Amino acid sequence: MSSTDTHTGLFITFEGGDSCGKSTQIALTKQWLEERGVAPLLTREPGGTELGEKLRELIIHGPDDMDPHTEALLYSAQRAYHMETKVLPALHRGEVVLQDRYLDSSVAYQGAARALGVDEILQLNLWAVRGLLPDVTIFLDLDPEVAFERRTGEPDRLEREPNSFQHRVREQYYELSKTYADRYRVIDASGDIESVQQQIRRALEPLVEEHLRANKVGNA
Ligand code: TMP
Repeated sequence: MSSTDTHTGLFITFEGGDSCGKSTQIALTKQWLEERGVAPLLTREPGGTELGEKLRELIIHGPDDMDPHTEALLYSAQRAYHMETKVLPALHRGEVVLQDRYLDSSVAYQGAARALGVDEILQLNLWAVRGLLPDVTIFLDLDPEVAFERRTGEPDRLEREPNSFQHRVREQYYELSKTYADRYRVIDASGDIESVQQQIRRALEPLVEEHLRANKVGNA
């Protein structure tokens, strides 16, 4: 399914395994855009809306007997609402959206790691969001063993999965980066914060430039 929706915004998503450093890198990317006169919308999944944040709590800290199908449907439900009420309107206003996780997370975690079927989960989520794909996806690639060392705090329901789960997630992101080579940018997330951020800025620069020129905003 492909989207018939056209918008003048720039839809940037960030993906990766648990503890790959996404939040820090998204905050620094936001800062970079603001320095260029752009006020991006920062949002996340699961979450991003009041309903979505409630569902996030239920999914991540929900009962241990939650089955994979229920989990997959809850992720896609919060996504449908998030896109319809928050992200799409922003894209139609021509805004830059920095989104922490999108449907690729469901494909990697539920489709591959939970073995529900990559194609089934992709189709379910494309249906939920009427086929809308990001303009660009930053994949922060990090060895799950290194990510595990970086983990802080009590592990949530998904973080309690064995390390093999995170390896399956990573493998699926590699597959997605090949299938969607035009929108994927694979970033080596093993370096220090600054060097990872430099890679992200280099990857985004041409698209941001083009967006600013087309919309005649910021310092382009
Ligand atoms: P976060 O820690 O990056 O905010 O993500 C929360 C957890 O939810 C993380 O373990 C990844 C997982 N997740 C899925 O399994 N499927 C999804 O569709 C999304 C958005 C997140």
